[in-house]
Amino acid sequence: MQRVSDDRLLKNDSYINGDWLSSGEKFSVSNPASGEIIARVSNAGISETELAIESAKKAFPAWSAMSANERARILHKWFELLMQHQHDLGIILTSEQGKPLAEAKGEIAYGAAFIEWFSEEAKRVYGDTIPAPSGDKRIVVIKQPIGVVAAITPWNFPNAMMARKAAAALAAGCTFIVRPASQTPLSALAMAELADQAGIPAGVFNVVVGEDASGMGKVLSQHPDVTKFTFTGSTPVGKLLISQCASTVKRVSMELGGNAPFIVFDDADIDAAVQGALISKYRNAGQTCVCTNRIFVHEKVIQAFTDKLMTEVKNLSVGDGLTEGVEIGPMISQQACDDVLKLIRASEKLGASTVLGGQPHIAGENYLQPTIMTGVKNDMPIASNEIFGPVSAIIPFRDEAEVIAMANDTEYGLAAYFYSRDIGRIWRVAEGLAFGMVGINEGIISNAAAPFGGVKQSGNGREGSKYGLDDYLEIKYLCMGGLNS
Ligand code: SIN
Repeated sequence: MQRVSDDRLLKNDSYINGDWLSSGEKFSVSNPASGEIIARVSNAGISETELAIESAKKAFPAWSAMSANERARILHKWFELLMQHQHDLGIILTSEQGKPLAEAKGEIAYGAAFIEWFSEEAKRVYGDTIPAPSGDKRIVVIKQPIGVVAAITPWNFPNAMMARKAAAALAAGCTFIVRPASQTPLSALAMAELADQAGIPAGVFNVVVGEDASGMGKVLSQHPDVTKFTFTGSTPVGKLLISQCASTVKRVSMELGGNAPFIVFDDADIDAAVQGALISKYRNAGQTCVCTNRIFVHEKVIQAFTDKLMTEVKNLSVGDGLTEGVEIGPMISQQACDDVLKLIRASEKLGASTVLGGQPHIAGENYLQPTIMTGVKNDMPIASNEIFGPVSAIIPFRDEAEVIAMANDTEYGLAAYFYSRDIGRIWRVAEGLAFGMVGINEGIISNAAAPFGGVKQSGNGREGSKYGLDDYLEIKYLCMGGLNS
């Protein structure tokens, strides 16, 4: 791995109860850009996961009793440390995940922003008073931390997906255990080192890294001492985890798959729409849940839009994310490339045309050519599945009602985007799209101040924003009676 300036960030063991827990059995973490093994990590399993839960349970009374101001100060220190180490953390992230260094550093800032945001929100957990039905009573509502939170986070955002869950949980007064994806454990472990340096007490924040996804997932989702479970990942795995959480009736929040429509109306600013599609489709090599999946373009502007998009996509530089100027890194694995290629081939057979790319890229076995397909229909595999790769699937449409119906014709409901300059249409379409987040003349919508989350089979709960703490708080109603003298 490229050298980092602070070696303390390179950790290879789970972080449990404030200690680094080594084990004899190791697993390898490799750089998807080259296949090079960059770390051998202690392979934690069921017993380490149980130990982490026990530690989080023990740490809960003191952490939840700490004043919000004190928790805020510690979280703010963690935020500052993350930003001070942004470059090193970016190198670690690119080395294990593949995204270009500039994008990785952007992710570090994005993840840290949630910690900063929730360090501030920690002080704003307000209750309520409610007029009681009789004069001798008073009704008061208080909010309390839900307890021990378990999280499973994905490989596509190894820093930010964990940061935005942990930040909200810790700010609310909960304690936390996370199992990061085994492809990308190093970013989470580096964050744990900085959590330790920031003064987060032992047991409040725990990271268990291991290959036994199913065994560790079962413990985290079924253990009676875990009161809340949160997951970012695919819809099928989310469904399984929800069913496992049912045995102990845990609170769950799920950020699952997406199939984002990106609609370009004939009154749109086409250049702006092309830039929006480019960033929303090709960032992280198309491997985000909010990536544009289906591009609907009005037939009057489809040629102009496609030509301009082609010019931009042809110029994207593909390669190792640590090489200066690279804009698209590798996919996470060869299997991920094969899955995308299968969708392309199956849709070609049904009549879609690949007008750019569509093949493995010469940069290496985990790389795909940035691709554009035209003549796509909404029910073709490249449109009905979440692509999770750098492929634009362009679908023509004629009118507003038709395109809203096509956009909503999916079991997913995470993000949607559209471009129009007509104010009446903007309201109609924004309200008509059955998605949790809508970008209007905007291709990048994620930030700490906004509620991130989906509807339908894209999940539930919201991360970030003033709503983000709610998922980690219980509402308690206090009824005071006998107040008349
Ligand atoms: C995701 O892909 O799940 C998250 C993307 C984001 O936060 O922008």
